[in-house]
Amino acid sequence: MSRPFYVTTPIYYVNDAPHIGHAYTTVVADAMSRWHRLVGDEVFFLTGTDEHGLKVAQAAEANGVSPQEWTDRTSSRFTAAWRQLDIAEDDFIRTTEARHHTTVQRFLGAIYDRGDIELGTYEGPYCVACEDYYTEAQLVDGNCPLHLRPVTSMKEENYFFKLSRYEDRLLEWYERHPDAVRPATKRNEALGFIRSGLDDISITRTSLRWGVPVPWNTDHVFYVWYDALVNYVTAIGYGVDDDRFRRWWPAVHHLIGKEILRFHCVWWPAMCMAAGIEPPASVFVHGWLLVGGEKMSKTRLNQIAPSDLIADVGVDGYRYHFLRDVPLGADGDFSHEGMVARYNADLANNLGNLLSRVTAVVAKKCDGIAPAPPADSPLAALASAVVVEVTDAWERFAPHEALEATWRLIHAANAHLEHHEPWKADPGPGVDAVLGTAIEVLRIVALLATPAMPAACAELWTRLGLAGTPEHQRLPAATVWGGYPGGLPISRGAPLFPRIQAG
Ligand code: MSP
Repeated sequence: MSRPFYVTTPIYYVNDAPHIGHAYTTVVADAMSRWHRLVGDEVFFLTGTDEHGLKVAQAAEANGVSPQEWTDRTSSRFTAAWRQLDIAEDDFIRTTEARHHTTVQRFLGAIYDRGDIELGTYEGPYCVACEDYYTEAQLVDGNCPLHLRPVTSMKEENYFFKLSRYEDRLLEWYERHPDAVRPATKRNEALGFIRSGLDDISITRTSLRWGVPVPWNTDHVFYVWYDALVNYVTAIGYGVDDDRFRRWWPAVHHLIGKEILRFHCVWWPAMCMAAGIEPPASVFVHGWLLVGGEKMSKTRLNQIAPSDLIADVGVDGYRYHFLRDVPLGADGDFSHEGMVARYNADLANNLGNLLSRVTAVVAKKCDGIAPAPPADSPLAALASAVVVEVTDAWERFAPHEALEATWRLIHAANAHLEHHEPWKADPGPGVDAVLGTAIEVLRIVALLATPAMPAACAELWTRLGLAGTPEHQRLPAATVWGGYPGGLPISRGAPLFPRIQAG
């Protein structure tokens, strides 16, 4: 039975150029969705760009173009980055699309009709960079706590979402859904926000035009965060295609960075309740990639573009590094040395060596034709234990554990070769058994690692003489020991992961 797996990234602000922080969330979501496709789930992977609000309107003006022209230009930087990183999203949503405007108006219109949006006046400190109001208490020396830049004072007649009515309902809902926010520390943070008391929030603006018009009062546009959150239901047909909507909702997994927890774990579930739909089933909150101990930002001039790193370690080396080295949930300090060290150790040495040794010895001792794996191989039990572990790790949103386990199998295959030294032995059943074991490990590894490194694993698969690609196999059946038929020509080729000289 195929399970639905709907995964989303935040939609990224178009003003920033894509950097490795955005790419981190997107690569994780891509790898997760590739894993779920591999095990036969029905997958929908959504990403996109957040294109309204004051910041965008100001940037367009500064550049002398219309906001739409500006967002067309800047949104495409994200699609270009994702093509480069081998991201295979099913849909890329832009909040300036007509489909999104329609859904925002329907969704927020439903909340209005049900009585949880009311008119009021709002005045308070506002950070343009965050597109968010703060309370005086949240400011740091009078500045925005995130950007450490001065805030402006804003006063507007606004429509308010009656968030204060949802305190009890949210707490009760979280009580019944203990896994709705992961990791548990982030769930506690969300509960802390709710318990500390919820104020109503202003959700419309009259001070700018660059947004989705409020259908019942077109002097107002919706505040950018309110429009943005709705993207998650626009893309699956809310209010347009009920069957489609019900297939994917509420079984969604929102993958987000920790700074937008309040929006996703307090506002968004309350908005869903207010509109009469279930809150999202799961929000997974990850940490930040830090550079020199600090979050990347335009103002700190410490942003790194993915393309800078791909030039060194390739697309698959890039994806592997971030998936393997940053446990999802924790902050990770990016270092170039760390990335190269990981590449050399795991890819050039461990996996790359196994492949080049095996292909060289098969060429020499078996005329280039691969032997089949022995049924009684000493590595068969380890391989099936690793498959179980890897499956469990991907299911738990723990790619680093999945890859760590996969590499334990590679390590064992290298040790097995070193122990038996088939390169020194005469051709025959002994050599065939050792090589057959190593080849079967490589085949299983190509399957287990393909969500992280789709291109390299496809190449590995081809070099083993196998038809198709690992992505088109079905797990767990395809990982059962003995799947490699033997008798196939093995090709040598250039090193899959050439070693990088440090420095
Ligand atoms: N537009 C809002 C999100 C609306 S979602 C309905 C937004 N955009 S953003 O461009 O600032 O992107 C924020 C997201 O990018 C973070 O939540 C995270 O997923 C990713 N990251 C941006 N910088 C990051 C790091 N330094 N480290 C890890 N991820 C980071 O907020």
